Amino acid sequence: MAESVEADGQRLPLCASAELAERGRAWVWDVLQYGRPARAFAVRFDGAVVAYLNRCTHVPTEMDWQPGEFFDAERQVILCAMHGATFAPGDGRCLGGPARAPLTAIGVAEDGGQVYWYPSRDIRPLPPEQPAPGSAP
Ligand code: FES
Repeated sequence: MAESVEADGQRLPLCASAELAERGRAWVWDVLQYGRPARAFAVRFDGAVVAYLNRCTHVPTEMDWQPGEFFDAERQVILCAMHGATFAPGDGRCLGGPARAPLTAIGVAEDGGQVYWYPSRDIRPLPPEQPAPGSAP
């Protein structure tokens, strides 16, 4: 199973459902993990939307081999482009390669053609953009 992440209940819009084709390109977005910049990704697998932190559990690096491309050639597993660890798309557990631990899951929901994500204690949205100093309000 993926590492459990406690959601705090407030859902945030992520993307339109139509953006996520079955086993297609991921929707990638910026988050803060423990207050530090990180990226996350959502894909559709067997009809369901799942999301994980884009950080391999072997070496803490991003895993996509092209931006937003996480699936292997057969589109059966999530593949880390760095050293080839594989993860089950449905629950993030490690299936093989040099990693051992599961991916960090992020709670998602789909409702009315919209995908939402659930921030947690550890994984938060970026703060709203601040106007540059000296810029007009
Ligand atoms: S960093 Fe992912 S397999 Fe090594």
